[in-house]
Amino acid sequence: MTIKTVGVIGAGTMGSGIAQVFAQAGFSVLLVDVATPMLDRARTTIARSLDKFVEKGKLSAADRDGSLGRLRVATSVDELVAADYAVEAIVEDADAKRALFASLDAIAKPEVILSSNTSSISITSLGAATKRPDKVLGMHFMNPVPLMPLVEMIRGHATSDESMQIASGLCARLGKTPVEAADYPGFIANRILMPMINEAIYAVMEGVGTPQAIDAVMKLGMNHPMGPLTLADFIGLDVCLAILTVLHDGLGDPKYRPCPLLRRMVAAGQLGRKSGQGFYTY
Ligand SMILES: NC(=O)c1ccc[n+]([C@@H]2O[C@H](COP(=O)([O-])OP(=O)(O)OC[C@H]3O[C@@H](n4cnc5c(N)ncnc54)[C@H](O)[C@@H]3O)[C@@H](O)[C@H]2O)c1
Repeated sequence: MTIKTVGVIGAGTMGSGIAQVFAQAGFSVLLVDVATPMLDRARTTIARSLDKFVEKGKLSAADRDGSLGRLRVATSVDELVAADYAVEAIVEDADAKRALFASLDAIAKPEVILSSNTSSISITSLGAATKRPDKVLGMHFMNPVPLMPLVEMIRGHATSDESMQIASGLCARLGKTPVEAADYPGFIANRILMPMINEAIYAVMEGVGTPQAIDAVMKLGMNHPMGPLTLADFIGLDVCLAILTVLHDGLGDPKYRPCPLLRRMVAAGQLGRKSGQGFYTY
């Protein structure tokens, strides 16, 4: 099947970026979210990002307009009957994702691959919520999607070689590099990144350093482009907590225990950049 229309479900930080890169690569994109304000925000974010590419001379004004013209938004997943490929990017919650995969399975054409942008949740369990587990896989984009070259590709227990090949081919059309990881909690990226972020939060809680000091040590001393607490705010503290919970539950090692300070900040609605307050104020 030729893939022309891509459905992206979830219009938050990641879904808007994923919708943008598919539209830029010439696909028709249908971006679905339960919340209309998120769809409005995604349109604005995408338009701003495309404008920046035009200002930097990396995109022509005609290609920007073409990309925006290929983007449609909707509040019902029923619209995905028109999709040839799907990328799920809703909240990092296993039950919510499984329920969505069951609905997508009932709506999408039988040959359509259903991929998930999950940071940590089992692809095998998402596949098991459908009658097409051979066509369910992880396609884990990095934030910000328009700028980051990696896509971590996750093969579930039943994912077919053909599905993996089709999805990797799509990455190439987006100008991204696919790297395969096994279906383990947190895969490669977050198995390594999240314990570092969690440790940085423990260091704040225990008074080892201020957020500014901790970020400065990791930037200037370890040559990281961004300190771990700035990065946590950028990812979203709720997303970090959800991923750490999957690592802790799935790997059973106390070293992955989410820091109590992270739990408190999320409970207080301090989610990082997207809420205006995290380790820094925005
Ligand atoms: N934030 C990051 O840096 C990052 C990086 C890589 C992967 N991810 C993963 O991407 C996914 C999305 O993360 P995010 O940061 O974009 O989250 P977000 O909170 O910014 O956005 C989630 C969106 O999903 C929508 N949503 C929730 N339930 C829905 C449903 N049933 N149907 C349709 N829309 C629904 C919400 O309204 C919201 O707009 C998660 O699985 C996360 O782990 C996040």
